[in-house]
Amino acid sequence: MIKAGELAAQALELAGKNAVAGISTWELDRIVNDFIVSKGGHSPCKGYGGFPGHNCFSVNEELIHGIPSKKKILKEGDIISCDIVAELDGYMGDNTKTFRIGTISDETERLLQATETALYKGIEQAVKGNRVGDISNAVQTYVEGAGYCVVKKYIGHGVGREMHEDPEVPNFGKPGRGPRLIPGMTIAIEPMVNQTTDQVKVLSDNWTVVEANGKMSAHFEHTILITESKPMILTLPSH
Ligand code: MF3
Ligand code: CO
Repeated sequence: MIKAGELAAQALELAGKNAVAGISTWELDRIVNDFIVSKGGHSPCKGYGGFPGHNCFSVNEELIHGIPSKKKILKEGDIISCDIVAELDGYMGDNTKTFRIGTISDETERLLQATETALYKGIEQAVKGNRVGDISNAVQTYVEGAGYCVVKKYIGHGVGREMHEDPEVPNFGKPGRGPRLIPGMTIAIEPMVNQTTDQVKVLSDNWTVVEANGKMSAHFEHTILITESKPMILTLPSH
């Protein structure tokens, strides 16, 4: 899981470096996939439920599951959520960041910072003896306190040999509820945050999930290991 997490994080870092004005999300997908394959890994999203890309690239009001496309060209002021899963030797790392293309508006900057901070508020709660609800509540409390909306239709999850395992890790809930966290568990914590509503729509491509009012949305995700002490973030480029 440590090696898979590192590979997923390196791939995400590479996506961030290449996410500049003028590039298409199809080209980003190709670059990331070539890298993962060159390291002996592969991208389990390809073909998952029929998903056509290797990774998800979601621009501006697109929250998750954006399909890589030659027609989707990044431009100055955009944001792009790159959600990258890498499988290596039978284990998976899952991580996401929303990157800025050049200079973005102050409003959008604030949304990104709130979403990333909410992820770390959740990670802080990912300790032995706590329950999943402690993570969920920390994320929700921070996001709503910042004036944004947590999406409830899509949630975080256990991750391991499969991309999606138990337990479910919602970005909303009550402290002290849900499954207890036990050392050795690996989970993906992934706040999905909308600017103006918790509602989403799915586009006619049957994949792309967008902010229901067409405003901005952000997504940050790490794969975490529950330990005897502090949570260990597995999706870092090196340990
Ligand atoms: N990586 C996503 C997650 O965080 C799932 C991707 S959906 C797929 O759970 F269809 F692209 F695989
Ligand atoms: Co995930």
